[in-house]
Amino acid sequence: MPIAILLFLLFLITVYFFSSKVSPIPYYPTNSKDIDKIISEMDLKKAKMLIDLGAGDGTVVFAAADQAHKLGLETIFVAVDVNPILAWIMQIRKAFHPHKKYIIILNTDMYLYSFKDLINKYVPSQKNNKIVFYIYISPVYIPRTFEMIKKLKKPTRIVSYFYPIHEAKPKKTTAGIHEIFTYDLN
Ligand SMILES: C[S@@+](CC[C@H](N)C(=O)[O-])C[C@H]1O[C@@H](n2cnc3c(N)ncnc32)[C@H](O)[C@@H]1O
Repeated sequence: MPIAILLFLLFLITVYFFSSKVSPIPYYPTNSKDIDKIISEMDLKKAKMLIDLGAGDGTVVFAAADQAHKLGLETIFVAVDVNPILAWIMQIRKAFHPHKKYIIILNTDMYLYSFKDLINKYVPSQKNNKIVFYIYISPVYIPRTFEMIKKLKKPTRIVSYFYPIHEAKPKKTTAGIHEIFTYDLN
C-alpha cells in the first residue's frame, strides 16, 4: 500500500512538473551535453550577473556557477522559477554550492518581478558591466521576455537555448543537441 501511495505521489509530481496547465512554460531541463557550449556563450569573465529566467532545478545556473568559482570570478547568479518545488530544490543545491554567497534563488513569476531594482542593487551601472540572461522557454513567451529584457536598457547578452528570438539578429548560432542562439544588446 505505501508503494501505491508513493507511486501516486510521483505521478502527481510528474504531472505538476510537465503540465502546461500548471505553468505555461513546463519544466524540461537543458540537455546536459550542451551545457559546456552554453556556458562558453555566457562569457562569464565579462558577466557581472547571470539571470536564468525559468531556471528549473538549476541545471545550467549551477554548472555556470561551478565554472565561475573555478575561475575565481565574483559573478552573481540569479535563478528564477515560478514553481515552488523547483525553487526549493535549488535552495538545497545552493546550500551546498561553493559559490553560494553569489547565488540568489527567486521563487517568483519572472514577468512580475523588478529585475531593474535587483540589477541596480548588485551591479554598478558601467558600460562594461554586462548582464547575461539565459532562457529556455516556449517560443510563445520569447517576444514578451525579450521586451522585458530590452526595457532594462543595460548592456546585455542573451543566450537562448533551442528557440531563436525572431525579433533580434543573433551574434552567433552554435550547433549542439539543440541550437544555442547568442544575442548582444547595447
Ligand atoms: C524549459 S524549463 C527550463 C529549465 C532550465 N532553465 C533549464 O534549462 O534546465 C522552463 C522553466 O520555466 C519555469 N517558468 C515558467 N513560467 C515561468 C514564469 N512566469 N516565471 C518564472 N519561471 C517560469 C518553469 O517552471 C520551468 O522550470
